[in-house]
Amino acid sequence: MPRVTYIDTAGKETTLDIDVGTSVMQAAVFNGVDGIVAECGGSCMCATCHVYVRDDQLAKLPPVGEDEEAMLEGTASERRPNSRLSCQLVVSAEMEGLVVYLPETQT
Ligand code: FES
Repeated sequence: MPRVTYIDTAGKETTLDIDVGTSVMQAAVFNGVDGIVAECGGSCMCATCHVYVRDDQLAKLPPVGEDEEAMLEGTASERRPNSRLSCQLVVSAEMEGLVVYLPETQT
């Protein structure tokens, strides 16, 4: 199972083993990782699952989709070049070792 690490603004790290096919958002919510709200449950309609992906790992992710692009315009914390919606990041074997940083706020 690929491992994904979540790092909050205080520097606290949580690493999870995630089944392929589960989203980075779902794994966080199921495992009680604070900092991902996911109000819409993964329908790409709320932007409260915003994360910042470690810069050198952006290339191993699928490109930002049209819906994701639109929702990223409305994130509560500043959008950056490495911003993604974690509900749109479905874990694959290639994502082993992914590191995501949680934003200051989601709402
Ligand atoms: S959970 Fe709502 S956009 Fe990701």
